[in-house]
Amino acid sequence: MTDQVTITQADGVLEILWNRPDKKNALSQAMYAKAADALLAASEDKSVRVVLLGSTGDAFTSGNDLSDFAAANASGSSEPRQSSRFIDTIIAFDKPIVAAVPGLAVGVGTTMLLHCDLVYVAKDAKLTVPFVNLALSPEAASSITLPARIGYVRAFAMFALGEALTGEQAANTGFANAALPATEVLPAARAAAKALAQRPVGAVMATKKLMRNAEALTERANTEVKIFSERLRSAEAAEAFTAFREKRPPDFSKV
Ligand code: COA
Repeated sequence: MTDQVTITQADGVLEILWNRPDKKNALSQAMYAKAADALLAASEDKSVRVVLLGSTGDAFTSGNDLSDFAAANASGSSEPRQSSRFIDTIIAFDKPIVAAVPGLAVGVGTTMLLHCDLVYVAKDAKLTVPFVNLALSPEAASSITLPARIGYVRAFAMFALGEALTGEQAANTGFANAALPATEVLPAARAAAKALAQRPVGAVMATKKLMRNAEALTERANTEVKIFSERLRSAEAAEAFTAFREKRPPDFSKV
């Protein structure tokens, strides 16, 4: 089976690429686990100065694999463990992360970007957080980070109405550093990562630590997980996941 997360390292930059293009890079539990392990190891490894998070194919990621959500709903369990572990790890990660987003980013695909330090997106990328469409609620501390980044009403429209942010809008609202033609996104992110890797890493890490309140974000993410897990077990969510599997719009009037 192809490696669904490819990890390489050169010149102080650890590259983590989502690599499941046939499923728009939907994130399975194994993919979260591998990325979390790579981040934890990178934090301890002096030879890693910067992490680049990107993807193969035309999408960044379509978010959590919905079949895992459906399984959690059917079994009555809470949010799958590896996704929570990945989120906790990226929130607490102490070295700089540069993101390359060539196209679609859905759900955690967008909320993880709010824990990256430099973000390059394709002009026609589509960033969404359609938690309410799936009868779910915000995760990864995005109930704090998204309104802080783009303002409350815009964030609420993204969460509750499923409105998208295009790459251009992401750059204009301060969500991303630049919106570029899709083919230029990964090269731009690589160039930025290389430049960062040449900076004094201690000073870069101190700046990141001062600019983000990782403890408060972790606390919010933990609160969100409890609510998210309840939502995941709900009849509303069961209808949303069944509708996705059956390739039809959900009908929440029955639940
Ligand atoms: N989980 C599992 N499978 C997914 C997926 C996800 N999050 N996103 C896409 N896929 C699968 C599709 O089921 C399809 O599989 P198939 O070829 O076996 O039928 C394949 O990836 C391609 O997706 P498709 O829907 O045909 O592509 P598209 O370009 O028309 O639409 C999306 C792409 C991402 C807009 C659409 O697939 C979608 O809405 N996915 C769900 C996203 C989501 O809700 N994520 C969770 C957020 S919390």
